[in-house]
Amino acid sequence: MGIRNIVKVGDDILRKKSRKVEKFDARLHKLIDDMKDTMYKAEGVGLAAVQVGVLRRVVVIDCGDGLMELVNPEITKTEGEQQDVEGCLSVPGRNGITKRPMKVTVKAQDRDGNWCVYQGEGLKARCFCHELDHLDGVLFTDNMIEEVRIECAE
Ligand code: NI
Repeated sequence: MGIRNIVKVGDDILRKKSRKVEKFDARLHKLIDDMKDTMYKAEGVGLAAVQVGVLRRVVVIDCGDGLMELVNPEITKTEGEQQDVEGCLSVPGRNGITKRPMKVTVKAQDRDGNWCVYQGEGLKARCFCHELDHLDGVLFTDNMIEEVRIECAE
């Protein structure tokens, strides 16, 4: 298990733009494996590399139906709209309602550089948007419509 520290809000790195991955090597594979372990340990549904202090365009997501490893992800299509409660492992103790598309299509490379296409609806669509925002230094609190209080935060 490779558990890394999760960077918290207030650290400037969260506001920086992550760089494209060019090398699909053992170092990248180790980063992805560590991100996966770190996300599961923290019981999150998604994690971006910048959240473990690495400014590379890498995201892991698991909304309960399996792990997705997204390298250099881009949103190619969005449809509809939803409003729901969001939180973030880097913004502990805060939750809020954000407006996101209902359906999102993403193209991304896998850990070996092969391009794949993913589609998500509902929670998964929100997750794609939230994690990809991290790669451009955007936090969900930037787009929050309303802050909500939750007794047991996600
Ligand atoms: Ni987040």
